[in-house]
Amino acid sequence: MAEEKKQTAMEEIVSLAKRRGFVFPSSEIYGGFAAIYDYGHYGTLLKNNIRDAWWKHMVQYRDDIVGLDSAIFMHPTTWKASGHIDSFDDPQIDCKKCNARMRADHVLELFGINADKQPLDFINIELDKLRELGKLKCQNCGSTDVTEAKRFSLMVKSNLGSPTDALSEENVVYLRPETCGGIYLEYKNTVDSTRVKLPFGIAQVGKAFRNEIVARQFVFRTREFEQMEMQYFLHPSIMKEKYDDWKQVRWNWYLEYGIAKEDIRWYEHEKLAHYASEAYDVEYNFKSLGGFKEVEGIHARGDWDLSQHSKFSGVDLSYFDEKTGERFIPHIMETSAGLARLFLMFLDKAYTQEENDGDVRTVLKLDKRLAPIKVAIFPLMKNKPELVAKAKEIFDTLKMDFMCEFDDNGNVGKRYRRQDEIGTPYCVTVDFDSLEDGAVTVRDRDTMQQERVKIADLPTFFAEKLK
Ligand code: GAP
Repeated sequence: MAEEKKQTAMEEIVSLAKRRGFVFPSSEIYGGFAAIYDYGHYGTLLKNNIRDAWWKHMVQYRDDIVGLDSAIFMHPTTWKASGHIDSFDDPQIDCKKCNARMRADHVLELFGINADKQPLDFINIELDKLRELGKLKCQNCGSTDVTEAKRFSLMVKSNLGSPTDALSEENVVYLRPETCGGIYLEYKNTVDSTRVKLPFGIAQVGKAFRNEIVARQFVFRTREFEQMEMQYFLHPSIMKEKYDDWKQVRWNWYLEYGIAKEDIRWYEHEKLAHYASEAYDVEYNFKSLGGFKEVEGIHARGDWDLSQHSKFSGVDLSYFDEKTGERFIPHIMETSAGLARLFLMFLDKAYTQEENDGDVRTVLKLDKRLAPIKVAIFPLMKNKPELVAKAKEIFDTLKMDFMCEFDDNGNVGKRYRRQDEIGTPYCVTVDFDSLEDGAVTVRDRDTMQQERVKIADLPTFFAEKLK
């Protein structure tokens, strides 16, 4: 029964996302391309608004963080230095009957065994125990004929260079598996070209690529995704203090945009990378995924990244503190959020079905600042040129300050329903009285209350309401 509910919530969101132009399965006319998605008009607007909300709090509102937009392709040695080429992988098991691929750690998790970052030996011992009990089964077909776990690299390879030597190993480049790699490589240029002094951060938003063994659950886990990462460079003596501060800053960001504190929690990683001193995830309680899942990681990474890049490049990446006279390799603490995961989180949170007088309406109760369209403007009737002209005039004024939509399709009830489904906080209807009294009806998405507002007052009315 619980399983049925879970699927329903996700299916409803996936269906609305497609029907209303948020997210489309990629390459659909060619039969689709597994676990890759395209964002439609409203999805792009929502995603951009989430990105901007992050950027505002992480860069614009701060005097200790600067921005960056580094390239996806980077020198291949980057990933040797970072350890990704040798050990960025997940444990994979295959079903010998139906060839389904599974993540061994996810299978173990179903039995309450935490295999996060555990060595392959540990994973295979645990799998064997389940096998002996007849409990190790393919998640697709139920067969017990399942392979041992092996390591599966998550790095996505590509080639650059002339087509004739496209297949040669020297030309292999990797699509970055995380955006922070570019930040480390531009750390020195940033210090040299901006006025930053330790402690300071560099933030960037961009695409990352991982050859995930199992990519599913809609946009939650895909092979191409966007990350919003910030790397904070500091002296190790203040790591603990800054780590706690940043946990609080990121926690508050979720509350600021309408996520209830009961719906998020911290997950502390027990098994850490050898260079890390602390790692916590923010987990959100997805209705559509049946429970708490990671949306962001906050990691204390020590001096690993800059030391490794210094070692492999031969370039000195140490920092000289003029105040103390000390020279050292800065330590790094990072905040790393998945943009698509936050997108799904906000949709999950906003998706509401309400019954009013026997009628069920679907409404996305998004934070107004995140809503794709802020104001929709309707003429009451499509075939009355004077109403259409007035509505167009209002649209032309409001569009200069807010993302607006003009809509004259179908009856007003249908237009409200459509705007509710894309989360538009306000609808403005121009009727015959508007031509006489210079006022329009403004309808609120959440309360469905309507009020008359003078056309001349609309810009200030919405500026106040949409803050
Ligand atoms: N630089 C650190 C880093 O990349 P991570 O925990 O591997 O850490 C950070 O990833 C965030 O990126 C995750 O919390 C998640 O939100 C997002 N993410 C990771 N893999 C993803 C995938 N396959 N699809 C969508 N989002 C992903």
